[in-house]
Amino acid sequence: MARYLITGGCGFIGGHLARALVQAGNRVTVLDDLSSGREGNLPPEADLERGCVTDGARLAAIAGQCDGIVHLAAIASVEAAAADPRRAEAVNLGGARNAVEAARTEKLPLVYASSAAVYGDAGPRPIAETHICAPLSAYGRHKLESESAVLTLGPRATIIRPFNVYGPRQHPASPYSGVIARFISACLAGETITVNGEGLQSRDFIYVGDIVRLFLAAMSRAPEAPLTVNGCTGQAISILKLTRAIGEACGTDLKLRHGPARPGDILHSRGNPRHAHETLGFQAEVRLGDGLADTIAWLREEDQ
Ligand code: NAD
Ligand code: UD1
Repeated sequence: MARYLITGGCGFIGGHLARALVQAGNRVTVLDDLSSGREGNLPPEADLERGCVTDGARLAAIAGQCDGIVHLAAIASVEAAAADPRRAEAVNLGGARNAVEAARTEKLPLVYASSAAVYGDAGPRPIAETHICAPLSAYGRHKLESESAVLTLGPRATIIRPFNVYGPRQHPASPYSGVIARFISACLAGETITVNGEGLQSRDFIYVGDIVRLFLAAMSRAPEAPLTVNGCTGQAISILKLTRAIGEACGTDLKLRHGPARPGDILHSRGNPRHAHETLGFQAEVRLGDGLADTIAWLREEDQ
């Protein structure tokens, strides 16, 4: 039985990962400041240390009791990070550097949640990990700089670049929440959805259960060399088509208006899943229609 430190474990992805690790018989310690996460996302067996990843000494002390680190804690919204650039740098870049130092001191493997945002706008074709990185946002730049720090750990470093993750437990309340949670929640409430710009921008949406399987595969790999992999399906859908799919899946007439384009929004984002398959045997399995149905069912239940 191993003990893992998950920073940001009370968040959307972290809560699912903590549950999967506990279910597989592991112990989990979570470091989280609950800024966007919820204690209720954790399984009861997980130990929560309430604190901030900018506190390097605290992070290292907790890591010292663990066999591996998954670093998820971040301001996860591109817009929220742009709204508070100093805080975003301290948390997203400073926090990652602290996780790297803890992993170095304690000689632990580190799995780092980077982002597809490191690529910037790479066009409609599937982006492989070898593609040049040209982030458009401070969020993406911090992720890319953090990756450089993580790679200094050598073979114990694994970087996952998730594309757009969705599914149950992604809370829709904040204006900075992921688009699928926001759109479904508005649709169920009969509210009007706002599409930023024309809605021709496209994303590669990956179901949270799939991304958790990728993290688990990364955590159990043999540390022979550093590894960077996309977390994606290889398929993309435009935001406009997504609204139609959500309207149909909710069984309601979707009310839609167009707002201004989001400054610095990436136009196309679609990953090439081949490297993750070749190195970790990972393949996304959940089709968008099925993942949307699960998410709708969860949000309907949350509403009651
Ligand atoms: P989330 O906001 O649900 O989770 C982030 C967690 O980190 C929350 O529990 C929050 O309270 C915690 N946190 C934030 N700042 C902290 C700090 N200073 N100290 C301690 N804890 C802190 O986001 P998520 O969607 O679960 O994303 C997890 C990670 O994956 C993030 O690093 C994000 O950038 C990355 N990522 C997410 C997506 C996606 O589509 N959701 C895609 C690519 C990358
Ligand atoms: C998302 C993730 C980010 C991750 C990145 C990787 C969230 C909140 N952000 O960023 O952590 O690193 O994927 O690719 O999970 N949109 C609308 N109307 C809305 C909300 C959004 O039209 O009400 C549009 C946006 O303009 C954008 C798209 O939907 O074009 C996706 O937006 P969003 O869910 O915020 O995700 P990303 O910015 O792609």
